[in-house]
Amino acid sequence: MRLVRLDETDSTNEYLKRQIRKGLKIIPVAVSTLSQTAGKGRQGKKWESDIGKNVLMSIACHYKHDHITLNKLSAIILANTLKNLFPYLDFKIKWPNDIIVRGKKIAGILIEKVKSTYIVGIGINTNQTDFGDLKYATSIKKISGQDVDNTKVILKIISQFENFSQMLSKPAVHMLYEESLWGLNKTVIVKAGELKLTGIIKEVNYYGSLVLKTRSGKLLTFPENKASIPYEFINSSLYGNF
Ligand code: BTN
Repeated sequence: MRLVRLDETDSTNEYLKRQIRKGLKIIPVAVSTLSQTAGKGRQGKKWESDIGKNVLMSIACHYKHDHITLNKLSAIILANTLKNLFPYLDFKIKWPNDIIVRGKKIAGILIEKVKSTYIVGIGINTNQTDFGDLKYATSIKKISGQDVDNTKVILKIISQFENFSQMLSKPAVHMLYEESLWGLNKTVIVKAGELKLTGIIKEVNYYGSLVLKTRSGKLLTFPENKASIPYEFINSSLYGNF
């Protein structure tokens, strides 16, 4: 896969979307940058990163399964690549597709679609150590003290993408996702609007929804835009340490 390396852009997702709208035909292709002036997170949030410190990249690809499976696949690839490069850290996937270590967010994924092409945007906190008032953000350097070679991480993600994205069946993706899912079969608190519900995570189903079993044995299903697992509870002693 070709890698385009930029010093600065608004957002690597937006950069690829523009190229595709202009008729870019060579797909898959990856783009990375040292700096984003308008980095985007999921659910309309911003994605901020100190210049040159972190991994900021996007991959434009075609994918034979649906976007939910691509979401899970991207989280698996990211978690497994990081586990491979930094085996002493316990990377987990926090539903829907945050990558966390010790209850704090270390990487995020934003998937968008233009025409029939998916854009998988990946942000990994590697060398940044100051996150201001973002209490639940961390980085590889912050946790381990180790300087990270961002190029090595980018190239590894690309090669894992090339190796696995077309090969894994839907059930295989589902299974591998659960293997790294934080809180599976554990009691967690889910926030749905003003409500806070306690239950055991049973699975993330084929629609990407979180399935929670309450104390009364009822199964509740939460779509991503309707619920979240707050980080404060991941860190609490009552619900944490999974
Ligand atoms: C999230 O967890 O909210 C998703 C964060 C995704 C951030 C990456 S950084 C590279 C790519 N370009 C963007 O503007 N966003 C993604």
